Amino acid sequence: MTEIVRTENLKKRFGELVVLDGIDMTVDTGETVVLLGSSGSGKSTLLRCINFMEIPSDGSVIIHGERIGDHRDGKAHYRERDLCALRTRIGMVFQHFNLFPHMTVLQNVMEGQVTVLKRPRAEAEAKARSQLDRVGLADKADAYPARLSGGQKQRVAIARALAMDPDVMLFDEVTSALDPELVGEVLKTMRQLADEGMTMIVVTHELGFAYHVANRILFLNEGKIFEQGEPHQVLKAPETKRMREFLEGHSLFKLPD
Ligand SMILES: Nc1ncnc2c1ncn2[C@@H]1O[C@H](COP(=O)(O)OP(=O)(O)OP(=O)(O)O)[C@@H](O)[C@H]1O
Ligand SMILES: [Mg+2]
Repeated sequence: MTEIVRTENLKKRFGELVVLDGIDMTVDTGETVVLLGSSGSGKSTLLRCINFMEIPSDGSVIIHGERIGDHRDGKAHYRERDLCALRTRIGMVFQHFNLFPHMTVLQNVMEGQVTVLKRPRAEAEAKARSQLDRVGLADKADAYPARLSGGQKQRVAIARALAMDPDVMLFDEVTSALDPELVGEVLKTMRQLADEGMTMIVVTHELGFAYHVANRILFLNEGKIFEQGEPHQVLKAPETKRMREFLEGHSLFKLPD
């Protein structure tokens, strides 16, 4: 397997607050890695450091074998131009979809391709239509976001990220703001992407998704990867007390026997 994302001793502090305290993780091509952890444990911060929406305080992010930034004298220097180029290779979908309300679904999915990747419009449109088809929304191309359900909007946001041909997709609690009956369609789309071999790092509280789709689970606690392993191991036979307590907090979730 080829490694796509690696972090080495990644640290992030906000003033006195140490959020990430030396994260070493590796994600291989085609893997789906689920990040679990209680609120405030640094899951979003870790995703944001991987695509440099946050600049790490220390350590490295290595994408496709390339160490991002210029590391010398024990300090890293990052050039905005390099970070912009990097961000185009890493797709990110958030809890709130942030679609442009004045643009149709098709225009939303074309926008980044045309403005950032400088793709010709015809090519961008073809790409947008194929990605909308992929998430089951080909028939909504001409609709405006206001006419879509939350689940449909979130699938448009996924299509928009996919249209940039990312090497890896980061998902940060993309179903948390949805009405319960809409969660399933978005998880189904994500599961389909995983089955197609997309590399994904997923922050979610949907333990059923984690159990059935993840290749690996990482549990963040106290700024570290506290426990990790395959889903059946981490979710059904957790090694640490902290992980067990976390799972007990999700008592509504019943794993299959
Ligand atoms: N820009 C920032 N400035 C200061 N503190 C921050 C900033 N971003 C995050 N934090 C703090 O870092 C800690 C981790 O936040 P983060 O959002 O990564 O947690 P999380 O695991 O994603 O939580 P949740 O499950 O609630 O989304 C929190 O204590 C948060 O208040
Ligand atoms: Mg978060």
